[in-house]
Amino acid sequence: MKHSGGALLSSISINRASKKKISTQVFMGIRDIILSEGLKAGERLPASRTLAIELRVSRTTVIDALERLISEGLLEARSGAGTFVSDVMQEDRPFLQNTHLQLGDDNNKEHPVKLSNGIEKALPGLIARDHLPKEPHCFITGLPALDEFPMSQWLRLSSKNLRGERSNIMGYGQPCGLQRLRSAIASHINASRGILCDPQQIFITGGAQHAFQLISNMLLNSNDKVWIENPSAIGARNSLIANGATLIPINVDKDGIIVSEGLKQAPNFKLAFVTPSHQQPLSVVMSLKRRFALLVAAEDADAWIIEDDYDSEFHFEGQPVPTLKSVDTNDRVIYVGTFSKSLFPSLRIGFIISPLGLVDPFEQIFNSFQSGVPTHSQSVISDFMDEGYFATHIRRMRNIYAERYHALRDLSELYLSEHLDIQPTQSGLHTVGFLKKDTNEVGLSLALNKKGVSALPLSRYCLKKIEKQGFTLGFGAVNPDQIKSSILVMADTFNELV
Ligand SMILES: Cc1ncc(COP(=O)(O)O)c(C=O)c1O
Repeated sequence: MKHSGGALLSSISINRASKKKISTQVFMGIRDIILSEGLKAGERLPASRTLAIELRVSRTTVIDALERLISEGLLEARSGAGTFVSDVMQEDRPFLQNTHLQLGDDNNKEHPVKLSNGIEKALPGLIARDHLPKEPHCFITGLPALDEFPMSQWLRLSSKNLRGERSNIMGYGQPCGLQRLRSAIASHINASRGILCDPQQIFITGGAQHAFQLISNMLLNSNDKVWIENPSAIGARNSLIANGATLIPINVDKDGIIVSEGLKQAPNFKLAFVTPSHQQPLSVVMSLKRRFALLVAAEDADAWIIEDDYDSEFHFEGQPVPTLKSVDTNDRVIYVGTFSKSLFPSLRIGFIISPLGLVDPFEQIFNSFQSGVPTHSQSVISDFMDEGYFATHIRRMRNIYAERYHALRDLSELYLSEHLDIQPTQSGLHTVGFLKKDTNEVGLSLALNKKGVSALPLSRYCLKKIEKQGFTLGFGAVNPDQIKSSILVMADTFNELV
């Protein structure tokens, strides 16, 4: 009989303060010793009782760990003889370089993995989206009014859906999206955004960001030129870069993206990304003249246009702003919508309205890869829309967002007029404040952040420097009292630093 590896085994260190179960720590300790050949194939382990005494743990804990190792094939129990390292460990097996690699170890950096050429090239241009908000506070952008969401209605519909037919709730869903939801969106978008489309043109995605990924992946070749507003939406920019686009940043004026600038820089563009109803981040609305110019440019270049219509359901002043898609007579516009603002972002549900010419490829792609959008949530949204709650919610939220925007505008006028010029907006959940004096926007933003006020500098959204400096100011997630106290904090900070 071969000797036991008891000495090595007793070196296993047990951390009683760790969140890991003790039996898991024993399991991992023995596994690492076997994998690093501290215990060889055929070697006998000490009896569980001895091991328990040496490690100062209960025998049940040791037995638990040994059983896991047996079920993973690393140990064998031979009746009457004891527990042995499995003979399989003798055979050719991967050489384990380091059993103790941890997330974030320097060791990981010494052996960088080889990624695809495309991603290697794209990575330096990607901007981490770690600022995406969870907690409502002034003046984060992107969060709707979580405090005003009709949770009781949602709960009722949610549990009604869970009590439905099990195969509907628990089986695989429809790859292009729940048909009921596609129909509900088609009628809603017709009434509210002036888009006439067939439900078959609608594809349900995991939020708008998933839609941008899919579209870029489907349409772009490496180094294709893509017009993008400057400044622009960061998530979309990441998707385009990751799919090989050469981004052509085009400045934005009071009428939206300056099409003539795009035509000078890259007349042969393949795709344009725009936010016509509420430019992200500058908040301007693209004029009808510019829309036509963009549609003509796309037609001439045989290019596609992504229209990101992320928050314009909430128009609270004047007439609703029409969509680009509603005046697209040449089937160029791929419309992307989201429920992140009209309901809430953790749903991770958005949709594409495909031009007729792209319905077949979209269908093929969605049918080939089951999307990750849970059927239950899709079904709850369908009921929410069909039973009229969605329209009511939007109407109610328009008034709330109007009140919040007016608080931001009026209080800024009162306390910050020397420093900030608030860009008027008619819709959405955010606007921008331009700095009136030449100051360091990044420094100011950091100082404000330290005082609990989030005002992201415009340069964060820019691919090339723009003339103006300023901040994005989200008002959707916070009430007028919160807005007031943060404006006072801003006034103090400006008076100190500017
Ligand atoms: C410009 C823009 N488009 C779309 C979205 C919505 O993305 P998603 O639907 O993935 O939450 C956001 C989120 O803040 C955004 O800023």
